[in-house]
Amino acid sequence: MTESVIIYYFSGTGNSKNVAGWLYENATSIGAKCDLVSISNLEYPIEKPPEDTQVIIISPVHGFNYPPLVLKFITRFPKGKNRIVLMCTRAGLLIGKYNLPGVSGLTFYFSSLILTLKGHKISGMIPVDLPSNWISFHPGLNRPTVDVLYQKNKKKVQILAERIFAGKNVWRGLRDIIQDIIVIPISPAYYLVGRFFLAKTLYASRDCDDCDICLKACPAKAIIKIDNRMYWTFRCESCMKCIANCPKQAIETAHGFVIGYISLASAITGSLLLLFEKYVLSLESGLVKWIIESAILIFLLGVAYRIMHYLMRFKWIERMMVYTSLTKFKFWGKIRIRYYKHGNPVVK
Ligand SMILES: Cc1cc2nc3c(=O)[nH]c(=O)nc-3n(C[C@H](O)[C@H](O)[C@H](O)COP(=O)(O)O)c2cc1C
Repeated sequence: MTESVIIYYFSGTGNSKNVAGWLYENATSIGAKCDLVSISNLEYPIEKPPEDTQVIIISPVHGFNYPPLVLKFITRFPKGKNRIVLMCTRAGLLIGKYNLPGVSGLTFYFSSLILTLKGHKISGMIPVDLPSNWISFHPGLNRPTVDVLYQKNKKKVQILAERIFAGKNVWRGLRDIIQDIIVIPISPAYYLVGRFFLAKTLYASRDCDDCDICLKACPAKAIIKIDNRMYWTFRCESCMKCIANCPKQAIETAHGFVIGYISLASAITGSLLLLFEKYVLSLESGLVKWIIESAILIFLLGVAYRIMHYLMRFKWIERMMVYTSLTKFKFWGKIRIRYYKHGNPVVK
């Protein structure tokens, strides 16, 4: 029976935090000493956990892998001989009474490799399919669906927790190995390019009353203030914590801006590449071309976002941004991603 547990967690909108809370309850109910450690508040270098301590790492999946902040934590985790269970929360769906799984891709395999090379023993891979918080892409799930997903998964986690704390291995994540392998190539593309695009989709409307809650809560310290208006830097991990926590519901995803940017920037990038190939060098490799194209697109995105941020001081431009943001509308239900409300007060 496990006597000592450390749960390291990262969470944007509360799903992973709630799972960490359920595990904590289970560990303490069997008399184990249990520490909950927030990865985003952690100071480096990381203190080495005692070797007889069961370690659990739990975080959402972002782009078929752990988010960069969690990958940094894993790559800097001290060498040792701990038993480590890797857990993630993913975008679950409910079709009838079936809880359809999200897709974790590289999540478990990459981190298992790193931690095994550091001498640890991976003793479990567990995905938990809770409601998706990717509100920039789809409307929030309705309340009854969220409640059912929560009830089902809480039970599952409690059963699996008993097995973990009884010292057994839990390989639930390996059931999805085929779907994981299929999406693996997308994960590096998300890490190298995609996440920077998402970092520039968020903005604060005039409803923002400068309470600074988003700025202080941001786990990636990605929000700064420019000209008295919130500004999302490329450090943003799109974890949605800012959107979910804003008391004024002032943070939106800039769908209109994204569509305008894609049309304009693709035309500019295409023309630049054509000129480059005509007058400088013909690019044979598709990969080289893709890297150059992505670098130009990310650079242009930074410029376009800064211009948009400046222009938002004009009321009619700000209104245009707001009414072309799907998150502004009630049917999209951005308010529904406050998953920490379903949770467990144990985890602060
Ligand atoms: C930027 C972003 C990327 C995501 N990528 C994935 C993904 O690749 N696969 C998946 O199943 N869910 C994905 N999701 C959904 C979240 O992993 C899921 O909702 C998670 O439970 C959120 O956890 P949290 O509330 O602790 O932040 C993504 C969500 C966001 C915001």
